[in-house]
Amino acid sequence: MAKLNSHKIMTDPMKTLTSSAISGLSGEIKVPGDKSISHRSLILGGMAIGRTKVSGLLAGADVLSTLEAVRALGVDITRDDADNIIVDGVGTGGFISPQDALDLGNAGTGVRLLMGAVAGQPVSAIFTGDASLSKRPMKRITDPLCQMGAQIAYDPAGAEKGFLPVTITGAQPPLPIRYEMPVASAQIKSAILFAALNARGQTIITEPHLSRDHSEAMLRHFGVTLEREMLADGRHRITLEGEAELHAKDIIVPRDPSSAAFAMVATLITKDSHITLPGISLNPQRTGLIITLQEMGGNIEIVNERIEGGEAVGDIIVQSSQLKGIAVPATRSASMIDEYPILSVAAACAEGETYMPGVAELRVKETDRISVMAEGLKACGVEVSETPDTMRVTGAGMISGGARLASQHDHRIAMSFLVLGMVAQNPITMLDVATISTSFPDFANIMNKAGAQLEEGITQA
Ligand code: S3P
Repeated sequence: MAKLNSHKIMTDPMKTLTSSAISGLSGEIKVPGDKSISHRSLILGGMAIGRTKVSGLLAGADVLSTLEAVRALGVDITRDDADNIIVDGVGTGGFISPQDALDLGNAGTGVRLLMGAVAGQPVSAIFTGDASLSKRPMKRITDPLCQMGAQIAYDPAGAEKGFLPVTITGAQPPLPIRYEMPVASAQIKSAILFAALNARGQTIITEPHLSRDHSEAMLRHFGVTLEREMLADGRHRITLEGEAELHAKDIIVPRDPSSAAFAMVATLITKDSHITLPGISLNPQRTGLIITLQEMGGNIEIVNERIEGGEAVGDIIVQSSQLKGIAVPATRSASMIDEYPILSVAAACAEGETYMPGVAELRVKETDRISVMAEGLKACGVEVSETPDTMRVTGAGMISGGARLASQHDHRIAMSFLVLGMVAQNPITMLDVATISTSFPDFANIMNKAGAQLEEGITQA
């Protein structure tokens, strides 16, 4: 069995991509494995007893950061001859304290979920990340972990805001808690669940709406007892029995609906396009964009629906469509939280206005995605307005484009504007596009094979 060589992907801040108008997209587009499920398969596989074979793992920079961190916590991870990832789990109490700081790069999911896993074990680890991750709020994670008895020590410079680096020393054992989450966030929920695996008793978490539930699904897949309940007021409650054991079981990672989103919108807004996206995760907490685009008039059909590895998947067929603006229900935001940047591109190409309320969480992603999208769209000739938690885009009829935009270390911002370039009168250039490897390493090649015109360049110093 080959040792997995998971070097950190080198980012080249000088690399650019220029996207020009195209006549159409066609064929089959195979997007990579789901990022959320990939992170969880490494962390929970590492906490299981026995060997977990993971097929279809996303080999993106974020997941590779998690992989290295899980290894540093004492888990052996290799790759077999068929390219499956083999995780030899050490059990829920088997992590070791890593010698060096765990550098999670740009991986928000990786760092937050691992904080929970470490907080429930008798180990200590320092968590660091890149410039963008070091400006994202971590107190939303460390507050409940602190209530569970973990020791949390931020470096003085970031202590007030709850910014990395932070040292977490696990509770021995963690306390079971009742926790009312202030926002619907799968990352907060998962961190508490992972810490609670070693608690003596029941941990009960309530979230304002159901956020993506891959952790719950995978914990059950590994044999953990977990109850779920939708409350009459729309909140979602999870009860986890502590002192749980995870029993290794193979995982098939479906293709990522958040990556498919770029190909879907590109197909809808360009003329004479018709593509198929096979094997996409159709977990209901991830399909908000598909429903929204269909409501906007998008010709999107789902065929061949099936269950693979415990997750719903299907093939998506998309055709060029004339979209119209709509008001997107705020309650849908948790099921499409990563898709608002590309939805705002679809909105820019639609007739009329698209109103997106309840999107405040976008301001604490890899960048403030509301203002970065608003600025970029305006630079391309689109009318946009924003409030702290809403965004409003008026369809432009014609996209002037011609802008050179910074990705701001945000993969989804970079891919969104490259899609907009496919219909713009003048090409759109994205700077610092190495960040795309976070979630969709081969984006440019895959899109170009389907008919896009994404041309690589180098920034002139
Ligand atoms: C993720 C949850 C979401 C999402 C992120 C991945 C996950 O974040 O934005 O890209 O895998 O749990 P929040 O849970 O903070 O909304």
